[in-house]
Amino acid sequence: MLRTRFTELFGVRHPIVQGGMQWVGRAELVAAVAEAGALGFLTALTQPTPEALAAEIARCRELTDQPFGVNLTILPSINPPPYDEYRAAIVESGVKIVETAGFNPEAHLPGFHEHGVKVLHKCTSVRHALKAERIGVDAISIDGFECAGHPGEDDVPGLVLIPAATARLTIPVIASGGFTDARGLVAALALGAEGVNMGTRFLCTQEAPVHEKVKAQIVASSELDTELIFRPLRNTARVASNSVSRKVVEVLAEGGEFPDVRDLVAGARGRKVFEDGDLEAGVWSTGMAQGLIDDVPTVRELVDRIVTEAEALIAGRLAGVLHRG
Ligand SMILES: Cc1cc2nc3c(=O)[nH]c(=O)nc-3n(C[C@H](O)[C@H](O)[C@H](O)COP(=O)(O)O)c2cc1C
Repeated sequence: MLRTRFTELFGVRHPIVQGGMQWVGRAELVAAVAEAGALGFLTALTQPTPEALAAEIARCRELTDQPFGVNLTILPSINPPPYDEYRAAIVESGVKIVETAGFNPEAHLPGFHEHGVKVLHKCTSVRHALKAERIGVDAISIDGFECAGHPGEDDVPGLVLIPAATARLTIPVIASGGFTDARGLVAALALGAEGVNMGTRFLCTQEAPVHEKVKAQIVASSELDTELIFRPLRNTARVASNSVSRKVVEVLAEGGEFPDVRDLVAGARGRKVFEDGDLEAGVWSTGMAQGLIDDVPTVRELVDRIVTEAEALIAGRLAGVLHRG
């Protein structure tokens, strides 16, 4: 058993998190993660309405009696989703752990904390992490430049970002971005983190509700096969390299504006990739971690393997490096 401040605070067996994933963080995956003793997050905005989220939480409860959480991604938007109503659906469903991401979660903290909901805030810089600690979140997930989705604009990789964060924060820190296996988990612990958060690795498991072709593509891809889109708009996202993402990079590099790529990046097209396995239908998130992934295990196989090998790595190879002369 690996026990850390994270496992203690959130009441889970293993220091492993499955972060929110648009279109992917559904009951099947999250329940499998919970059953394996890790902490999974349903993705609130994958559900079209707060009522649908409440139904998805209920569906997840039917599949597991272990703890799980909900990701609430707060993004700037002209027509924002009804965040307060999503928050109410989470609280009223009795979920006790939330992963916030995107914008500052301050407006939502009292509403969560007064109902005993713990907040794990995911961010991509030490200054945002310190701010989140100051406003009262319970733990931080710090996402390095390697990560799938939004790595921020500072481009600091995990090897520097994680110890820079753990040196300054007092609340528990989860290391995120580029983690797939026991080596990563042990490295994260060595860097001062209390566990790891993984997106791409959980996307490539049997239970992830996405087309088999997506999983095969992750296995076939290397760490070089991602693109950073929206860079000139300062809203960078790391996605799979395909004809659509390369076109988006090209249009924006040539001075195009968001309206010029709006259709290319439409959420419905990304969803089609996951549902139909049409890898060129739109943009879809995946991280550099894909270069370390070469199988499609069940979630339980994956979590068991990571924990068992991490224990062996700590007690074996690392202990063996100690020279007791
Ligand atoms: C397909 C996919 C969709 C994602 N969607 C979201 C999201 O909606 N909200 C969020 O906070 N993070 C999202 N992420 C980021 C993950 O929660 C996690 O922070 C990230 O994947 C960690 O990097 P890794 O992929 O290298 O493990 C997504 C990641 C993937 C792979």
